[in-house]
Amino acid sequence: MAAKILTVAQQKGGAGKTTLAAQLAAAWTQEGRRVAILDIDPQASLAGWFEAREEHATEPDPLTLNKVGGWRISQSLDDMRKDFDIIVIDSPPHAETEARIAVRAAHLVLVPIQPSPMDLWATQETVDLAKKEKRRLLVVLNRVPPRGRAADVIRAQLAARKLPTAAATIGNRIAFVASMLEGKGVVETESRSQAAEEIRALAGEVAEKLGI
Ligand SMILES: Nc1ncnc2c1ncn2[C@@H]1O[C@H](COP(=O)(O)OP(=O)(O)O)[C@@H](O)[C@H]1O
Ligand SMILES: [Mg+2]
Repeated sequence: MAAKILTVAQQKGGAGKTTLAAQLAAAWTQEGRRVAILDIDPQASLAGWFEAREEHATEPDPLTLNKVGGWRISQSLDDMRKDFDIIVIDSPPHAETEARIAVRAAHLVLVPIQPSPMDLWATQETVDLAKKEKRRLLVVLNRVPPRGRAADVIRAQLAARKLPTAAATIGNRIAFVASMLEGKGVVETESRSQAAEEIRALAGEVAEKLGI
C-alpha cells in the first residue's frame, strides 16, 4: 500500500512543528511502521534532529530522512511512496510555495498551536491554505501548561470555528526538548512518562485519521 502523507504545517514559527514531526515519527517507528521524514524547511531542524539520532544510534535505525526543497518535493514523494507506511513532512513557517506543495501532497495536515490568542489568530492562514487545497486538517494543542484554563478557552474557540481538534493534547514538558537533543523521541527516552503517553495518544489518533 502506498504511504500516507502527514504534513505538519503552521505559519507561525515556534508552534512545535518540528517537535511533533520528530516525536510522531519516533512513535510510529517504535510501533514497527515504516516511517520516512521529509524536511523541506530551509532551517533543516528536523534534519538536525536526525543527524543527532545517527550520532547516538547503537543499532541500525529503520527511520529514514529525506531532505529536499522546492520543485523536487513531489518527485521525492513519488519515489518514496511505495517503500513506506507513512511519510511525515516538516514544513517551513511561512505559506511559501514549499509549504503549499507539502499541504497539497498531504492526506492530513497537522496544525500545532500553543494555547494563546496570538497562536489562534496566526493559524487562520494555515487553515485557509488547507481549505484552498481541499485537505483535511487536524489542530493539536501543544505546550499546554499544567494549570490554567487557556487550553479550554482555545479549544472552545477552535470548536466555534469548526476546526477539527485532536482529543490528545501535548503538555509543555522538558522531556520533549531533552529527547530531541539526542535525536530521539520521548517514547524512546522516557517510555513511561506522561510525555510519551501524550505522543502515543496523538500518534494513535492521527494514524486512525490516516486510515493506517
Ligand atoms: N510540547 C513542548 N514542550 C516543551 N517545549 C516544546 C514543546 N513543543 C515545542 N517546544 C519547544 O518550542 C520551540 C519551538 O518548537 P519547534 O518544534 O522548533 O517549532 P516550529 O518547528 O513550529 O518552529 C523549541 O525550542 C522546542 O523545543
Ligand atoms: Mg521547525
